[in-house]
Amino acid sequence: MISPASQAPGSPIAIEPATWRDLNVIRHLEQVCFQKDAWPLWDIIGILTLPNVVRLKALVDGKIVGFIAGDIHPSENLAWIATVGVLPEYRRRGIGEALILACEQHIKLPAVRLSVRTSNQDAIRLYLHLGYQKIGLWKKYYQDGEDALVMEKALG
Ligand SMILES: CC(C)(COP(=O)(O)OP(=O)(O)OC[C@H]1O[C@@H](n2cnc3c(N)ncnc32)[C@H](O)[C@@H]1OP(=O)(O)O)[C@@H](O)C(=O)NCCC(=O)NCCS
Repeated sequence: MISPASQAPGSPIAIEPATWRDLNVIRHLEQVCFQKDAWPLWDIIGILTLPNVVRLKALVDGKIVGFIAGDIHPSENLAWIATVGVLPEYRRRGIGEALILACEQHIKLPAVRLSVRTSNQDAIRLYLHLGYQKIGLWKKYYQDGEDALVMEKALG
């Protein structure tokens, strides 16, 4: 266990490294959380196996209920949060926050960035709450033409 999330009510949350053994559960979680934006199988295999990726799962009562992956780019002095998701019935308990804070602790670089659909107000509120700032907009980034908001947080 890396860190318990002390603010969550009910069963405690454990944040642990994810591995390729979690492939099927995390694939299902990605499909539930992201639907039309869910990654194809090969991308999930990559994020669970490639070097320079921080991959963490959130467990409640031994069940995987959340996942985060951070891509480390040492040459750019930057990391990108590639994905973060929590099963709908486990949201608003601090699990997303616990995953992001744990991921940030593993990123030994000055800054972390992410991109998010401009309509995803739940996620944007969470990122603002954690100190991320809006730094840019990628026009028509998503396949359906929606813009992506780019956000950044200074670490350390
Ligand atoms: C975004 C997501 C990961 C948040 O996970 P979560 O576990 O519900 O987040 P937390 O409980 O840690 O939220 C922490 C804080 O963020 C803000 N926040 C998160 N979700 C919110 C919502 N639906 N409405 C308002 N504020 C919200 C609040 O400030 C919240 O603190 P509070 O509950 O004490 O008010 C989750 O909603 C999710 O999986 N969404 C679908 C996938 C997705 O969009 N991922 C992000 C893609 S970039």
